[in-house]
Amino acid sequence: MNSSWIILGATSGIARAVIRKLAAQGHGMFLAGRNQTELEAIAADCRLRGARMAEVMTFDARDHSNYGDLITRLRDEEGELNCAVFTGSMPEQEAIDADPNMIEGVLADSLTGPATFLQMLAPLMEERGCGAIAGVGSVAGDRGRLGNYVYGAAKAGFATYLSGLRNRLGRSGVHVMTIKPGPVDTPMTYGMELPLMTTPDAVADDILNGLARKTNVLYTRKIWRLVMGIIRVIPEPIFKKMSI
Ligand SMILES: NC(=O)c1ccc[n+]([C@@H]2O[C@H](COP(=O)([O-])OP(=O)(O)OC[C@H]3O[C@@H](n4cnc5c(N)ncnc54)[C@H](OP(=O)(O)O)[C@@H]3O)[C@@H](O)[C@H]2O)c1
Repeated sequence: MNSSWIILGATSGIARAVIRKLAAQGHGMFLAGRNQTELEAIAADCRLRGARMAEVMTFDARDHSNYGDLITRLRDEEGELNCAVFTGSMPEQEAIDADPNMIEGVLADSLTGPATFLQMLAPLMEERGCGAIAGVGSVAGDRGRLGNYVYGAAKAGFATYLSGLRNRLGRSGVHVMTIKPGPVDTPMTYGMELPLMTTPDAVADDILNGLARKTNVLYTRKIWRLVMGIIRVIPEPIFKKMSI
């Protein structure tokens, strides 16, 4: 049976590493994002690596007007459909404090844009009764922190959305995996000094292993499950005075 992956935010550093591995496994690739020139280059690379096909799609998390057309195209593609979500933006918290109107964009990039698209894709995947959805949240969504609580709120919202979607689609044989990375060395974290940093390639390996095992919530690196478990249980009177 044909198998295809729809990648939202295919130009992301983490997505590129995942795409290279999926292409080498021979899947068909629908590469969705804003930068068509970059996407065409990634598509060409996919074909060289052995992808069954590679097609570029326009996807903007802040503009839902073409999502219906994307779904129509995907309906025509036979076989198993899978989707992975990598869109997101992390402006500095100080910039958001200075301009609260930025909140809407942060929520659109990580939550409302991808959730709207997945909500439209869900019936198609339910009909086919197979496939997987992998969505990127973040450890930042596990507890609101001084340094990035708007980004964290967007990721928490997306993780909750994926939890509900997992509950719904699991009944039709579609698996939904929530990915919670800690810091990863990509353009998003360029120039930042962050603890336990890892590489996109290592995260991509974790994602593919997680999908193979039908993991529900994947922390990558693994140590973050423990770290966030501890951070989550710090009593609020203490936590609100901390700057971690
Ligand atoms: N790097 C980390 O430490 C880290 C940690 C935890 C979670 N994450 C999450 O992992 C995902 C991938 O991030 P990354 O680290 O690979 O960073 P990245 O390279 O900066 O990728 C961000 C991606 O989001 C896309 N994007 C942003 N706004 C968009 C919009 N309105 N519509 C469509 N696409 C949009 C970007 O597209 P353009 O190329 O068009 O800008 C880019 O493909 C993100 O959701 C991020 O929040 C990252």
